[in-house]
Amino acid sequence: MAINIKRIGHVGFLVSDMDRSFKFYTEVLGCNVTHRTKRPDGSETAFLRFDEEHHNIVLGTAPHGLDVTADGMPVRLIQQIALEVENRDEFLRALAHLRSKGVEPISGPLVHGIEGGGTNPGGSGSRSFYFLDPDGNRLEIFTDAMKVPNGEQFPRAEYAEAVKAYVRS
Ligand SMILES: [Fe+2]
Repeated sequence: MAINIKRIGHVGFLVSDMDRSFKFYTEVLGCNVTHRTKRPDGSETAFLRFDEEHHNIVLGTAPHGLDVTADGMPVRLIQQIALEVENRDEFLRALAHLRSKGVEPISGPLVHGIEGGGTNPGGSGSRSFYFLDPDGNRLEIFTDAMKVPNGEQFPRAEYAEAVKAYVRS
């Protein structure tokens, strides 16, 4: 890559109801608040973080008249936002916590890749489950996604053929 991007630093999206989404991301998902600001026109921006970075998620009020949850939209503009947790313990903890808050997965928990019963040898192998935020944005909590070190192809040559054969059979 010509530019050596390290990772995505934050995602920002427009919400239909700032109070509702703010409550969800802070009280249900446990994000810390770095700053929430309200402008004279009533629009708001909230900078939320997971740990020490200034912000990982930005919520912005949708411009007046723009319905981000409009009927007839088969999918949100955001296909998914995936939030990583440290390990299986934290994964199960997150699942239990969200259930206790009335947030049910829309898919999963599951394991991506052939070890989860799928047929895609390019799957990451992560444990994942998906759920929706108040506007219907699809969120994922995952752990244990496979790394792809620089210079390596994926799946690794040492088992790529075996994986392909397994998927075909
Ligand atoms: Fe994902």
